[in-house]
Amino acid sequence: MKFEHLPTPCYVVDQKQLRRNLEILESVTSHTGCRILLAQKAFSMYAVYPMIGEYLNGTTASGLYEAKLGAEEMGKENHIFSPAYREDEFDEIASLCGHIVFNSFSQLERFGARAREKDCSIGLRINPEFSTQEGHEIYDPCAPGSRLGITPANFRPELLDGVEGLHFHTLCEQDSDALLDTVKAVEEKFGPWLSQMKWLNFGGGHHITRPGYDIAALESCIKRIQETYQVQVYLEPGEAVALNAGYLVTTVLETLQNEIQIAILDTSAACHMPDVLEMPYRPPLLHSGEPGKKPCTFRLAGPTCLAGDVIGDYSFDAPLKPGDRLVFADMAIYSMVKNNTFNGMALPAIALQEENGDCRIIHEFGYEDFKNRLS
Ligand SMILES: Cc1ncc(COP(=O)(O)O)c(C=O)c1O
Repeated sequence: MKFEHLPTPCYVVDQKQLRRNLEILESVTSHTGCRILLAQKAFSMYAVYPMIGEYLNGTTASGLYEAKLGAEEMGKENHIFSPAYREDEFDEIASLCGHIVFNSFSQLERFGARAREKDCSIGLRINPEFSTQEGHEIYDPCAPGSRLGITPANFRPELLDGVEGLHFHTLCEQDSDALLDTVKAVEEKFGPWLSQMKWLNFGGGHHITRPGYDIAALESCIKRIQETYQVQVYLEPGEAVALNAGYLVTTVLETLQNEIQIAILDTSAACHMPDVLEMPYRPPLLHSGEPGKKPCTFRLAGPTCLAGDVIGDYSFDAPLKPGDRLVFADMAIYSMVKNNTFNGMALPAIALQEENGDCRIIHEFGYEDFKNRLS
């Protein structure tokens, strides 16, 4: 099927760009000997897991369901971190995951023996209390009062028996300079215990596949840590795996004017791209400009009841009209995994654009998908 014939709304993953990202990540593993896992929370389109598995070492999960998905669909290394595990899920998690990361010594004491019985490698998430980002407190695990990771004050070296790894995740869409500073803080605060470990997980938030990212600095940091402490370094990026590797194709349903020109689309920021409202950010839109740059500026908005269901203001060469198709870019990550059916909005179809340009619909959703979640 041709791109122009896809139904809308539709997420389309660009296999060529996905492969480009995976080649970059694989080159980091081959230059350094580190291991890279897909953080499924960002991108769980398992139709492409076999391809991702050709390049990466496995998956990491935030809970039982992602752990099951990683085991079933990729079947390579399977790691998990959760701030708190459920009693009734833990044994299944331990049978699915080779590596389990605990968020506190209390969780380690509660579940450690059950993890060891299943031969899991046990790790602890540490919090170096070193923020490298401003203005996005909800994405900063090092913000004061954070529940994520053990701070130096709460670290209890006397309980490390059987602990094989440490894990930190503190970055969000950052370059390697932020990682280097963070690693320095980790060494200052947790250095005495690093050599006791078999592995150190640098978490996600590394924008490795973004043009201009300093890959050489990342690689030398990984090599230095591995050599100094004799640990296996893991990275678990989500965004970097599918960065700029997806679109959300949508149709203009209606236009109207209220001091400004407005176009109502068949997609919703609240339902289909919630990060646009949460971050917030303005998603790239093909063939458009900043407001005022081209002759016709429109506010693009969703059809839900939420007054703030606004994607952003964009300008075009010609006025928008019902039936026009618009294509948002960078829509593979934190989109499908976060969408919802608020207002009874249909979920976008999921399609793959293959390397020869042809598109294939992988899944379409309907009324039953909406209804089945509600009672
Ligand atoms: C523990 C952990 N690992 C990995 C990731 C993936 O981060 P990103 O998609 O920014 O690379 C996250 C994101 O929140 C995370 O919380």
